[in-house]
Amino acid sequence: MRFQVTPSRVCDATVTVPGDKSVSHRALMLGSVAEGRTEVSGFLAGEDCLATLAAMRSLGVDIQQPSATEMSIEGVGLRGLRGSNGDLDLGNSGTAMRLMAGLLSGQTFSSVLTGDESLNGRPMGRIIKPLTMMGAAIESDCDGTPPLQISGGMRLQGIHYDLPMASAQVKSAVLLAGLYADGTTSVTEPAVTRDHTERMFGSMGVEVSVNNRTIALEGGQKLRGCNVRVPADLSSASFVILAALLAKNADVQIKEVGINPTRTGVIDILQGMGADIVLENPQLLGEEPVADIRVRSSTLKGGAVDPGLVSLAIDEFPVLFVAAAAAVGTTHFSGIGELRVKESDRIAAMADGMRILGIQIDETDDGAVVHGGRFGGGTVQSFGDHRVAMSLAIAGTIALDEVTVEDVAAVDTSFPGFCDTMAALGAEIHPTSAN
Ligand code: S3P
Repeated sequence: MRFQVTPSRVCDATVTVPGDKSVSHRALMLGSVAEGRTEVSGFLAGEDCLATLAAMRSLGVDIQQPSATEMSIEGVGLRGLRGSNGDLDLGNSGTAMRLMAGLLSGQTFSSVLTGDESLNGRPMGRIIKPLTMMGAAIESDCDGTPPLQISGGMRLQGIHYDLPMASAQVKSAVLLAGLYADGTTSVTEPAVTRDHTERMFGSMGVEVSVNNRTIALEGGQKLRGCNVRVPADLSSASFVILAALLAKNADVQIKEVGINPTRTGVIDILQGMGADIVLENPQLLGEEPVADIRVRSSTLKGGAVDPGLVSLAIDEFPVLFVAAAAAVGTTHFSGIGELRVKESDRIAAMADGMRILGIQIDETDDGAVVHGGRFGGGTVQSFGDHRVAMSLAIAGTIALDEVTVEDVAAVDTSFPGFCDTMAALGAEIHPTSAN
């Protein structure tokens, strides 16, 4: 699959984007080990979350799906999961693998977690280390990559863990294992990361203490099934925001998007570059704040991006690179080394694509310097990374000539319906078969 992108005119529109990926994964996992039923609406029926759905079903949980975006989970309680007959295949999803490893470390049965080529190349030492300190027994390939073999019957002990990197996945893995551990489990993060796990624990009656950047819970606490309304995903909305900002005279509204303050770094960074983005009708969907996001086309200007915002915008740097390329002047990104271990090396992947389209970009180990310019036409690679594919496609909408983005099937992991949503805005991004 590839995208053929024609320079196009984005018009005024009101659109919706699919449900939040992080919240959808957590609803499935926490709902499964809760007592009683959890009803989920606004679920992201993308491939990553469908992999988690299949995994929870293989672990013996009855999950009905009355519609693509609704789930009804019959929770089995903390000790009610049963071993899967085969390996659990988590596809492309790092979130699924790392959180499931935490959930499965304290079970009586053993599990094997595997994934696609990209996931099986990603670092798991970051979760194996703290989970092993808690008493888990996990084997990986020799370089710390999946498949992961998690032994059953290990007794877990609560620990305090200072996270070496800002990662909500590692934090959540340790906290999930902490539910099965004796005593208190706590983590201190070097920078605030998304707190969806902590919020959903709260909705399900688990007491979690949050003191500055230290999060703690007592083991053995029961979860109570509840209703989860999943907000629209700000990470997906960011592609719409980018398209609207870069267009001429567009006024676009995106409905009921999650604006959890641990996720809104992208809005702060873009506003700092001069973007006209306004949050309207703020309200709460359960524990998660949402708002309609109104975006008007803006002239962006470059500058130094505050490294303090990195963990709050971690998935949006491909979008921000494109914004920087369309901005006046030079934009300096630093402290984004974590991008090198995402679904692809996102610094290298974006630099490669943007250079082919005529943008000057200098890479550093943990950052990049992007020089504002004009996108030309050309054929670029996504490296199988959904966010790289969508970011380069949006670049194509303002390019001087046609852009082809290769290998875009992974877009369905997080944003099914991406091309239709973009079409509603007037952006011409056409999926075509590669042969
Ligand atoms: C996620 C955390 C982030 C993010 C990922 C989703 C989560 O990863 O990049 O897309 O749901 O916890 P890290 O925690 O590894 O930074």
